[in-house]
Amino acid sequence: MALDIVIMAAGKGTRMKSDRPKVLHPVAGRSLLEHVLLTAVEVAADRIVVVTGHGAEQVEAAVRAPQLQFVRQAPQLGTGHAVQQAAPLLHSDGVTLILNGDTPLIEAATLRALVEACGGARLALLTVDLADPTGYGRIVRRTDASGASTVQAIVEHKDATPEQRAIAEVYTGAMAVPTAQLQRWLARLDNRNAQGEYYLTDVVAFAVADGVPVVAAQPRRASEVLGVNSPQQLAELERLCQRDRADALMSAGVRLADPARLDVRGQLQCGTDVAIDVNCVFEGTVTLGDRVQIGANCVIRNAVIGDDAVIHPFTHIDGDTLGVTVGRGSLVGPYARLRPGAVLGAAVHIGNFVEVKNSTLADGAKANHLAYLGDATVGARVNFGAGSITANYDGANKHRTEIGDDVQVGSNCVLVAPLTVGAGATIGAGSTVTRQAPAGQLTVVRGRQMSLPGWKRPVKSG
Ligand code: UD1
Ligand code: MG
Repeated sequence: MALDIVIMAAGKGTRMKSDRPKVLHPVAGRSLLEHVLLTAVEVAADRIVVVTGHGAEQVEAAVRAPQLQFVRQAPQLGTGHAVQQAAPLLHSDGVTLILNGDTPLIEAATLRALVEACGGARLALLTVDLADPTGYGRIVRRTDASGASTVQAIVEHKDATPEQRAIAEVYTGAMAVPTAQLQRWLARLDNRNAQGEYYLTDVVAFAVADGVPVVAAQPRRASEVLGVNSPQQLAELERLCQRDRADALMSAGVRLADPARLDVRGQLQCGTDVAIDVNCVFEGTVTLGDRVQIGANCVIRNAVIGDDAVIHPFTHIDGDTLGVTVGRGSLVGPYARLRPGAVLGAAVHIGNFVEVKNSTLADGAKANHLAYLGDATVGARVNFGAGSITANYDGANKHRTEIGDDVQVGSNCVLVAPLTVGAGATIGAGSTVTRQAPAGQLTVVRGRQMSLPGWKRPVKSG
């Protein structure tokens, strides 16, 4: 039996007060719609149809997935009208699962259970009981003589009587329905209601009239079906999502100084005995090896941190598209910056106010204070002194600096690339080096020190 999924994402999201289409706002580093799509893909649908309207081009450009099709809804005349646009694309012999594009936390297991409750023969609604059901469609039930209660209709808040508004059970926006029936019911919708809209929820009354059983299923957790309509709700969902991630990490043995002060906006993989202090942000794909320690206030994106490495507080690591690798037992920070293409070997030390970009540092190399290494290859055990830099950019092109093993670069040196410093060389402090520095020798490029005996300071004239 074919399973099609329709995701409604045409609404404007007025209460977000944003130029960005609502479904493109991010939670945990992914747009609301991407969350729903990933879950839809997990449910293994034959076809996924996204209904776009407000900001359609932007929405369609932002999300791509296999088996995905878009249909446009313009103007937006209600949820029933939205699904009408998708109806011709659906497999009539199967089941259609209808979802809201602004409900990112819904889980695949919940959706599978909903499809199962439909079973190709029933209309299955995902419902929850809410302490404050204001604004939601209410589930109207009838209890027969035997005490069994059956769903009769969904009544939208604005159309509900005071007695109906007292009903706590609400429709979450997700339903699974036999497609052939859905297609027939959609054709019968009208907009004679308080909002002048074509309500998808009116299909429930049609099902009852046609003798199709209507069943209700509940999500594992009520928070799964929370939608985003405002910046406040977006922030609440972000915290919920982050708390889940923190719990998952702790269950896997990661020690978080405070689970409420962690943000994972992508994938974070951790080895054993990892410890993460407060206020750290992980973006993209980050891997932390065994016994890695991350200090407070670090931001780490697209990076692989090796076993036993220590990232001290206030370190910013951004691998962007090239990635960053920190070797086992390395010490980085505090206040260090590793940029794309930084590759540190084992036991490398990168200290405060040191920036490394597109450079490889071999095992045991050190740049402990106030330095810049850009487009450089740095040998093993090199000591790169405080205040020294590679001048890699001539105003038009970038050039490389090659520094051999066991080189000592004194403080406040400028290595003007392209340049090679031979193994075991020493560069005297304050040198501006523009030509090759031979292996094993001391190279000093600076004025020779003089002292003038009897020299007098000028005195103020007049
Ligand atoms: C809808 C349900 C309500 C339910 C609630 C759950 C209807 C009539 N009501 O109400 O019973 O309790 O969701 O959140 O369905 N959309 C379109 N095109 C449109 C209108 C909406 O694509 O013309 C999309 C929106 O982008 C959104 C979803 O449909 O993703 C729901 O629309 P929304 O306006 O939020 O419906 P509610 O009034 O909240
Ligand atoms: Mg809504």
